[in-house]
Amino acid sequence: MKLKMIKFAGSLAISAIMLFANAQDPAMAHGDGAPQPVDTTGLKELGEEWLKKNPYKGNELAVKIGSSGYNSNCARCHGLDVKSGGIAPDLRYLEDDEEGDAWYIMRVRKGYHQNGVTKMPKFEGLISQEAMWAIREYIDTRPDDD
Ligand code: HEC
Repeated sequence: MKLKMIKFAGSLAISAIMLFANAQDPAMAHGDGAPQPVDTTGLKELGEEWLKKNPYKGNELAVKIGSSGYNSNCARCHGLDVKSGGIAPDLRYLEDDEEGDAWYIMRVRKGYHQNGVTKMPKFEGLISQEAMWAIREYIDTRPDDD
């Protein structure tokens, strides 16, 4: 019994240490924070040119792919189900029009840096354009408030 308690306390301590490590480094907050490749098989390929407009509007496969791409790359900052916990903006409220598309793709490609601090990592070169737009379509189809 005593041994069990010690083991339990030990694993609690380890969890606490891991939580602490996560708090120190936002890149560690979900998985190891490394960008996760997104399998976009089945989506129309987009080529090298950067589009300014979401090519997957109304595409259900894009929503599905975007959901997993979002959860593995964005949720740790922007919140599960795209409901922000306050660390980063709530992406459900991005404009759902061409201006919103252009803003979205710029931010995701370049990330956001302020006074030399990376607030959001850049994703260009790490996940594909197809993945970025699939994630956009997933975000767009989330209800605004529930
Ligand atoms: C390490 C945390 C982090 C990760 C991971 C992250 N973001 Fe962000 N993101 C931020 C922060 C912080 C901002 C706010 C920057 C600012 O102040 O304008 C932001 C801003 C944005 C904006 C602009 C929102 C607006 O209202 O202007 C978009 C779009 C965006 N992120 C999309 C994404 C997508 C898509 C992913 C995943 C592929 C992602 N982000 C991953 C932290 C993150």
